[in-house]
Amino acid sequence: MAFSQWMAAGLLLAFSSIGASAAGLGGEGLPSRAGNGDPVAGREKADSGRCLECHGDDGNSGDSRIPNHAGQYAGYLVKQLHDFQTGARQHAVMSVMAEDLDAADMADIAAYFAAQQPMQGRDGSGKRAAPGLFLHGDAGRGIPACADCHGRHGEGRAGEDGTLYPLIGGQRKVYLRAQLTAWKLGERKNSPDGVMNRIAASLSDDEFEALVDYLSGLRPP
Ligand code: HEC
Ligand code: HEC
Repeated sequence: MAFSQWMAAGLLLAFSSIGASAAGLGGEGLPSRAGNGDPVAGREKADSGRCLECHGDDGNSGDSRIPNHAGQYAGYLVKQLHDFQTGARQHAVMSVMAEDLDAADMADIAAYFAAQQPMQGRDGSGKRAAPGLFLHGDAGRGIPACADCHGRHGEGRAGEDGTLYPLIGGQRKVYLRAQLTAWKLGERKNSPDGVMNRIAASLSDDEFEALVDYLSGLRPP
């Protein structure tokens, strides 16, 4: 390649990656973990909006019923806030907390939490063997592996179609159990195409327990 062409290609690459980060995109045009909000403004808004009282200064909650947000995909947090507003996801406290947030507030607050060091599990019993369901699913029952979507360390993933698979490794245990139960009972039904309802509906209480014990002890990178 001639030098001028090489330079032009390099510049193009540089410009396209600047454009991508301004639009909240990560590598290969996928949404980045931080999204496109302003984390500094987000911290102030999370403080004055009382979010930090429950979800923790650094996004690690003080109560196993309340989810951590530390290191969570910003776009996932924004989607949940939007779903609390519209009623697509229901929770007495969170629908009130989300009520007055506009799109910029959501993006900024989510960017602050996403920028924190990813949640590190504190609730698990310390059993290190991953349940087979987590790594492999159960083809006979049509259950896909959790790790295929949420990552082998539960670190979450941005899908090629823009779907965000949340960080679940290191999440609080009681919260995780409550969500799986809510998906199973159909009390939470805001996952794309009802995927989490289908998966949770096939799982037993013992399987829930093994999964949430493992997940809540994980320390994603
Ligand atoms: C009084 C405690 C409390 C306060 C204050 C609070 N939250 Fe929550 N939040 C919760 C609880 C409890 C849940 C779990 C809801 C459920 O079980 O479905 C939650 C869930 C969430 C979720 C969904 C997380 C996930 O992993 O799906 C988001 C996002 C969230 N809160 C953001 C906020 C923001 C932003 C604020 C401030 C405007 C805020 N919260 C204030 C208690 C609180
Ligand atoms: C085909 C992809 C896929 C598979 C497989 C999958 N999930 Fe999910 N899961 C999702 C998506 C997408 C969401 C986010 C839903 C939303 O946007 O509200 C989610 C959400 C969740 C949540 C809620 C997280 C939170 O912070 O509230 C939990 C818990 C969860 N999944 C656990 C599991 C477990 C355990 C397994 C394996 C038994 C599993 N998932 C398998 C796609 C998947």
